[in-house]
Amino acid sequence: MHPPLSPQPAHKAQFAAICARTPHNALIAAECAHLTGGVPDADGFALCQSVEHIPQAAYLRTGLHILAQGATPEELLQAVSQANFAADEFRVEFLSLALEKRISPQQTILALANAIPSYPNLKQPKHRFLLVERDNGLWFGEVVAECGHTYQSHDAKPHRTSTSLPSRISRALVNLVVPGAGSVLDPCCGTGSILLEAQALGVTVFGADQNPVIVGMARENLAHFGYFGLVEPADIRDYHRPADALVTDLPYGRLLAAEETAVRTIIEHGRRLAPVAVYVAEHDLTDWLAAAGYG
Ligand SMILES: C[S@@+](CC[C@H](N)C(=O)[O-])C[C@H]1O[C@@H](n2cnc3c(N)ncnc32)[C@H](O)[C@@H]1O
Repeated sequence: MHPPLSPQPAHKAQFAAICARTPHNALIAAECAHLTGGVPDADGFALCQSVEHIPQAAYLRTGLHILAQGATPEELLQAVSQANFAADEFRVEFLSLALEKRISPQQTILALANAIPSYPNLKQPKHRFLLVERDNGLWFGEVVAECGHTYQSHDAKPHRTSTSLPSRISRALVNLVVPGAGSVLDPCCGTGSILLEAQALGVTVFGADQNPVIVGMARENLAHFGYFGLVEPADIRDYHRPADALVTDLPYGRLLAAEETAVRTIIEHGRRLAPVAVYVAEHDLTDWLAAAGYG
Protein backbone atom coordinates (compact mmCIF):
# COMPACT_ATOMS: atom_id res chain seq x y z
CA MET A 1 0.00 0.00 0.00
CA HIS A 2 1.23 3.48 -0.68
CA PRO A 3 -0.21 6.76 0.58
CA PRO A 4 -2.12 9.03 -1.84
CA LEU A 5 0.34 11.24 -3.66
CA SER A 6 -0.18 14.83 -4.61
CA PRO A 7 -0.03 15.55 -8.33
CA GLN A 8 3.15 16.94 -9.86
CA PRO A 9 2.96 20.54 -11.12
CA ALA A 10 1.32 20.58 -14.57
CA HIS A 11 3.86 22.89 -16.16
CA LYS A 12 6.63 20.30 -15.84
CA ALA A 13 4.71 17.43 -17.45
CA GLN A 14 3.95 17.15 -21.13
CA PHE A 15 2.18 13.83 -20.87
CA ALA A 16 -0.25 11.99 -18.64
CA ALA A 17 -0.75 8.27 -18.14
CA ILE A 18 -4.19 7.04 -17.12
CA CYS A 19 -4.10 3.82 -15.13
CA ALA A 20 -6.74 1.20 -14.36
CA ARG A 21 -8.71 2.55 -11.44
CA THR A 22 -7.74 0.52 -8.41
CA PRO A 23 -6.75 3.17 -5.88
CA HIS A 24 -3.65 2.46 -3.81
CA ASN A 25 -2.71 -0.68 -5.75
CA ALA A 26 1.06 -0.70 -5.32
CA LEU A 27 1.68 -2.93 -8.36
CA ILE A 28 -0.18 -0.52 -10.67
CA ALA A 29 1.70 2.45 -9.22
CA ALA A 30 5.05 0.68 -9.62
CA GLU A 31 4.29 -0.34 -13.22
CA CYS A 32 3.32 3.24 -14.05
CA ALA A 33 6.45 4.62 -12.40
CA HIS A 34 8.74 2.26 -14.29
CA LEU A 35 7.07 2.66 -17.70
CA THR A 36 6.40 6.40 -17.64
CA GLY A 37 8.38 7.96 -14.79
CA GLY A 38 5.10 9.28 -13.34
CA VAL A 39 3.41 8.32 -10.09
CA PRO A 40 -0.37 7.92 -10.28
CA ASP A 41 -2.51 9.68 -7.72
CA ALA A 42 -5.53 8.07 -6.10
CA ASP A 43 -7.67 8.36 -9.23
CA GLY A 44 -5.02 6.73 -11.44
CA PHE A 45 -3.82 9.87 -13.26
CA ALA A 46 -0.06 10.32 -13.53
CA LEU A 47 1.70 13.33 -14.98
CA CYS A 48 4.81 12.07 -16.68
CA GLN A 49 7.53 12.76 -19.23
CA SER A 50 6.93 9.81 -21.59
CA VAL A 51 4.10 7.47 -22.60
CA GLU A 52 5.90 5.46 -25.31
CA HIS A 53 5.90 2.23 -23.27
CA ILE A 54 2.16 2.25 -22.52
CA PRO A 55 1.38 -0.26 -25.35
CA GLN A 56 3.24 -2.98 -23.35
CA ALA A 57 1.47 -2.13 -20.09
CA ALA A 58 -0.82 -4.32 -18.04
CA TYR A 59 -2.63 -1.67 -16.02
CA LEU A 60 -1.98 1.64 -17.84
CA ARG A 61 -4.80 2.40 -20.22
CA THR A 62 -4.06 5.59 -22.09
CA GLY A 63 -1.20 7.99 -22.75
CA LEU A 64 -2.17 11.61 -23.33
CA HIS A 65 -0.18 14.46 -24.81
CA ILE A 66 -1.49 17.27 -22.65
CA LEU A 67 -2.67 20.27 -24.65
CA ALA A 68 -4.65 22.34 -22.17
CA GLN A 69 -5.90 22.46 -18.60
CA GLY A 70 -8.46 24.54 -16.74
CA ALA A 71 -10.24 24.67 -13.42
CA THR A 72 -13.60 25.23 -15.16
CA PRO A 73 -15.01 24.52 -18.64
CA GLU A 74 -14.62 28.24 -19.47
CA GLU A 75 -10.95 28.25 -18.45
CA LEU A 76 -10.31 25.06 -20.41
CA LEU A 77 -12.02 26.45 -23.52
CA GLN A 78 -9.86 29.56 -23.36
CA ALA A 79 -6.71 27.45 -22.99
CA VAL A 80 -7.74 25.21 -25.91
CA SER A 81 -8.46 28.17 -28.19
CA GLN A 82 -5.02 29.61 -27.38
CA ALA A 83 -3.15 26.33 -27.83
CA ASN A 84 -1.55 25.51 -31.14
CA PHE A 85 -2.00 21.88 -32.22
CA ALA A 86 -2.84 19.82 -35.31
CA ALA A 87 -6.51 18.89 -35.24
CA ASP A 88 -7.82 18.03 -38.68
CA GLU A 89 -10.50 15.29 -38.60
CA PHE A 90 -10.77 14.96 -34.84
CA ARG A 91 -13.04 13.40 -32.27
CA VAL A 92 -13.35 14.40 -28.62
CA GLU A 93 -13.98 11.66 -26.03
CA PHE A 94 -14.75 12.04 -22.35
CA LEU A 95 -13.51 10.35 -19.21
CA SER A 96 -14.53 11.27 -15.69
CA LEU A 97 -12.15 10.38 -12.87
CA ALA A 98 -13.90 12.79 -10.49
CA LEU A 99 -15.77 11.66 -7.42
CA GLU A 100 -18.05 14.66 -7.78
CA LYS A 101 -19.35 15.14 -11.34
CA ARG A 102 -19.50 18.87 -12.03
CA ILE A 103 -19.72 19.36 -15.79
CA SER A 104 -22.07 18.38 -18.57
CA PRO A 105 -19.88 16.21 -20.81
CA GLN A 106 -22.03 16.73 -23.93
CA GLN A 107 -22.06 20.51 -23.62
CA THR A 108 -18.35 20.75 -22.85
CA ILE A 109 -17.41 18.47 -25.76
CA LEU A 110 -19.55 20.55 -28.14
CA ALA A 111 -17.99 23.77 -26.90
CA LEU A 112 -14.50 22.27 -27.28
CA ALA A 113 -15.30 21.09 -30.82
CA ASN A 114 -16.41 24.61 -31.67
CA ALA A 115 -13.22 26.07 -30.21
CA ILE A 116 -11.03 23.82 -32.39
CA PRO A 117 -10.58 25.48 -35.82
CA SER A 118 -10.99 22.28 -37.84
CA TYR A 119 -13.58 19.68 -38.87
CA PRO A 120 -14.48 16.70 -36.72
CA ASN A 121 -14.61 13.17 -38.06
CA LEU A 122 -16.38 11.02 -35.50
CA LYS A 123 -16.09 7.72 -37.39
CA GLN A 124 -12.45 7.75 -38.54
CA PRO A 125 -10.66 10.50 -36.69
CA LYS A 126 -7.02 11.29 -37.39
CA HIS A 127 -6.75 12.89 -33.96
CA ARG A 128 -8.46 11.53 -30.85
CA PHE A 129 -8.73 14.05 -28.07
CA LEU A 130 -9.73 13.20 -24.53
CA LEU A 131 -11.43 15.50 -22.05
CA VAL A 132 -10.67 14.29 -18.53
CA GLU A 133 -12.75 15.49 -15.60
CA ARG A 134 -10.90 15.31 -12.30
CA ASP A 135 -11.67 16.65 -8.86
CA ASN A 136 -8.88 19.22 -9.32
CA GLY A 137 -10.00 20.43 -12.76
CA LEU A 138 -10.30 19.56 -16.43
CA TRP A 139 -7.57 18.24 -18.69
CA PHE A 140 -7.55 18.09 -22.46
CA GLY A 141 -5.06 16.13 -24.51
CA GLU A 142 -4.49 13.98 -27.55
CA VAL A 143 -4.49 10.20 -27.13
CA VAL A 144 -1.00 9.19 -28.31
CA ALA A 145 -0.66 5.74 -26.70
CA GLU A 146 -2.97 2.95 -25.60
CA CYS A 147 -2.47 -0.35 -23.86
CA GLY A 148 -2.39 -3.16 -26.44
CA HIS A 149 -3.63 -5.83 -23.96
CA THR A 150 -1.46 -8.28 -25.94
CA TYR A 151 -0.76 -10.27 -22.77
CA GLN A 152 -4.39 -11.49 -22.70
CA SER A 153 -3.80 -14.17 -25.34
CA HIS A 154 -1.37 -15.89 -22.92
CA ASP A 155 -4.22 -16.81 -20.58
CA ALA A 156 -5.08 -19.47 -23.17
CA LYS A 157 -1.76 -21.27 -22.59
CA PRO A 158 -2.14 -25.03 -22.94
CA HIS A 159 -0.83 -25.85 -19.43
CA ARG A 160 -1.96 -24.25 -16.19
CA THR A 161 -1.92 -25.25 -12.54
CA SER A 162 -3.68 -23.86 -9.49
CA THR A 163 -0.65 -21.64 -8.82
CA SER A 164 -0.28 -20.25 -12.37
CA LEU A 165 -0.26 -16.45 -12.35
CA PRO A 166 -2.74 -14.57 -14.55
CA SER A 167 -1.11 -12.97 -17.59
CA ARG A 168 -1.99 -9.44 -16.52
CA ILE A 169 -0.18 -9.70 -13.19
CA SER A 170 2.75 -11.47 -14.86
CA ARG A 171 3.01 -8.67 -17.44
CA ALA A 172 2.94 -5.98 -14.76
CA LEU A 173 5.70 -7.78 -12.82
CA VAL A 174 7.91 -7.97 -15.91
CA ASN A 175 7.18 -4.31 -16.59
CA LEU A 176 8.95 -3.45 -13.32
CA VAL A 177 12.27 -4.37 -14.99
CA VAL A 178 11.62 -4.06 -18.77
CA PRO A 179 12.66 -1.81 -20.44
CA GLY A 180 16.04 -1.96 -18.78
CA ALA A 181 16.80 -5.63 -18.38
CA GLY A 182 17.93 -7.48 -21.51
CA SER A 183 17.49 -10.88 -19.86
CA VAL A 184 15.03 -12.11 -17.24
CA LEU A 185 15.32 -15.23 -15.08
CA ASP A 186 12.43 -16.94 -13.31
CA PRO A 187 14.11 -19.63 -11.16
CA CYS A 188 10.76 -20.97 -9.85
CA CYS A 189 8.99 -20.64 -13.19
CA GLY A 190 6.15 -23.13 -12.76
CA THR A 191 4.16 -23.14 -16.01
CA GLY A 192 6.11 -20.13 -17.29
CA SER A 193 3.58 -17.28 -16.94
CA ILE A 194 6.33 -14.74 -16.24
CA LEU A 195 8.59 -16.13 -18.98
CA LEU A 196 5.78 -15.72 -21.54
CA GLU A 197 5.44 -12.00 -20.78
CA ALA A 198 9.19 -11.36 -20.82
CA GLN A 199 9.56 -13.18 -24.17
CA ALA A 200 6.61 -11.29 -25.63
CA LEU A 201 8.54 -8.10 -24.89
CA GLY A 202 11.59 -9.42 -26.74
CA VAL A 203 13.69 -10.14 -23.68
CA THR A 204 15.95 -13.20 -23.41
CA VAL A 205 14.41 -15.54 -20.86
CA PHE A 206 15.82 -18.22 -18.59
CA GLY A 207 13.61 -20.43 -16.48
CA ALA A 208 14.07 -23.21 -13.97
CA ASP A 209 11.91 -25.23 -11.66
CA GLN A 210 12.72 -28.07 -9.31
CA ASN A 211 9.78 -30.03 -10.73
CA PRO A 212 10.72 -31.61 -14.12
CA VAL A 213 7.07 -32.21 -15.08
CA ILE A 214 6.27 -28.55 -14.69
CA VAL A 215 9.38 -27.61 -16.68
CA GLY A 216 7.91 -29.60 -19.59
CA MET A 217 4.70 -27.57 -19.24
CA ALA A 218 6.57 -24.27 -19.29
CA ARG A 219 8.51 -25.30 -22.40
CA GLU A 220 5.29 -26.31 -24.19
CA ASN A 221 3.59 -23.08 -23.16
CA LEU A 222 6.43 -21.02 -24.65
CA ALA A 223 6.50 -23.11 -27.83
CA HIS A 224 2.71 -22.77 -28.20
CA PHE A 225 3.13 -19.01 -28.77
CA GLY A 226 6.27 -19.39 -30.91
CA TYR A 227 8.51 -18.16 -28.10
CA PHE A 228 11.81 -19.54 -26.94
CA GLY A 229 13.41 -19.66 -23.54
CA LEU A 230 16.01 -21.88 -21.95
CA VAL A 231 13.94 -23.68 -19.31
CA GLU A 232 15.68 -26.33 -17.23
CA PRO A 233 14.83 -28.65 -14.36
CA ALA A 234 16.93 -27.35 -11.49
CA ASP A 235 16.77 -26.41 -7.87
CA ILE A 236 17.81 -22.79 -7.50
CA ARG A 237 20.67 -23.91 -5.24
CA ASP A 238 22.30 -25.62 -8.24
CA TYR A 239 21.37 -23.06 -10.89
CA HIS A 240 24.14 -21.02 -12.48
CA ARG A 241 22.80 -18.88 -15.32
CA PRO A 242 22.95 -15.18 -14.40
CA ALA A 243 20.50 -12.62 -15.80
CA ASP A 244 20.01 -8.85 -15.72
CA ALA A 245 16.90 -9.26 -13.59
CA LEU A 246 15.05 -11.98 -11.72
CA VAL A 247 11.24 -12.04 -11.57
CA THR A 248 9.57 -14.85 -9.67
CA ASP A 249 6.46 -15.91 -7.85
CA LEU A 250 7.74 -17.62 -4.71
CA PRO A 251 6.33 -20.97 -3.57
CA TYR A 252 3.80 -20.37 -0.86
CA GLY A 253 1.72 -22.10 1.73
CA ARG A 254 1.19 -21.65 5.42
CA LEU A 255 4.14 -19.86 6.98
CA LEU A 256 5.85 -22.84 8.55
CA ALA A 257 9.49 -22.89 9.63
CA ALA A 258 10.26 -25.19 6.67
CA GLU A 259 8.71 -22.68 4.29
CA GLU A 260 10.76 -19.85 5.79
CA THR A 261 13.95 -21.79 5.16
CA ALA A 262 12.91 -22.64 1.59
CA VAL A 263 11.96 -19.06 0.71
CA ARG A 264 15.04 -17.54 2.33
CA THR A 265 17.20 -19.99 0.39
CA ILE A 266 15.56 -18.92 -2.88
CA ILE A 267 16.11 -15.24 -2.07
CA GLU A 268 19.75 -15.80 -1.13
CA HIS A 269 20.44 -17.63 -4.38
CA GLY A 270 18.38 -15.11 -6.35
CA ARG A 271 20.73 -12.40 -5.08
CA ARG A 272 23.64 -14.41 -6.50
CA LEU A 273 21.97 -14.77 -9.93
CA ALA A 274 20.75 -11.23 -10.70
CA PRO A 275 21.44 -7.73 -9.38
CA VAL A 276 17.75 -6.72 -9.54
CA ALA A 277 14.79 -8.83 -8.47
CA VAL A 278 11.02 -8.82 -8.18
CA TYR A 279 9.66 -11.40 -5.73
CA VAL A 280 5.96 -12.13 -5.31
CA ALA A 281 5.18 -13.30 -1.79
CA GLU A 282 2.18 -13.47 0.48
CA HIS A 283 3.94 -11.76 3.38
CA ASP A 284 6.43 -8.93 3.92
CA LEU A 285 9.93 -9.96 2.86
CA THR A 286 11.76 -6.78 3.89
CA ASP A 287 13.94 -8.37 6.57
CA TRP A 288 14.78 -11.46 4.53
CA LEU A 289 15.69 -9.31 1.51
CA ALA A 290 17.98 -7.15 3.63
CA ALA A 291 19.58 -10.24 5.16
CA ALA A 292 20.23 -11.58 1.63
CA GLY A 293 22.08 -8.37 0.73
CA TYR A 294 19.45 -6.42 -1.21
CA GLY A 295 19.78 -2.65 -0.70
C1 LIG B 1 4.05 -20.39 -7.04
S1 LIG B 1 4.77 -21.55 -8.11
C2 LIG B 1 5.16 -20.61 -9.53
C3 LIG B 1 3.98 -20.49 -10.44
C4 LIG B 1 4.33 -19.82 -11.75
N1 LIG B 1 4.58 -18.40 -11.60
C5 LIG B 1 3.23 -20.05 -12.78
O1 LIG B 1 2.61 -19.07 -13.23
O2 LIG B 1 2.96 -21.21 -13.12
C6 LIG B 1 6.34 -21.83 -7.39
C7 LIG B 1 7.20 -22.85 -8.11
O3 LIG B 1 8.46 -22.88 -7.43
C8 LIG B 1 9.03 -24.17 -7.59
N2 LIG B 1 10.10 -24.28 -6.57
C9 LIG B 1 9.96 -24.34 -5.23
N3 LIG B 1 11.17 -24.39 -4.63
C10 LIG B 1 12.09 -24.35 -5.63
C11 LIG B 1 13.52 -24.35 -5.66
N4 LIG B 1 14.25 -24.44 -4.54
N5 LIG B 1 14.16 -24.27 -6.86
C12 LIG B 1 13.42 -24.21 -8.01
N6 LIG B 1 12.07 -24.22 -8.04
C13 LIG B 1 11.42 -24.28 -6.87
C14 LIG B 1 7.82 -25.08 -7.43
O4 LIG B 1 8.06 -26.35 -8.04
C15 LIG B 1 6.70 -24.27 -8.10
O5 LIG B 1 6.50 -24.73 -9.42
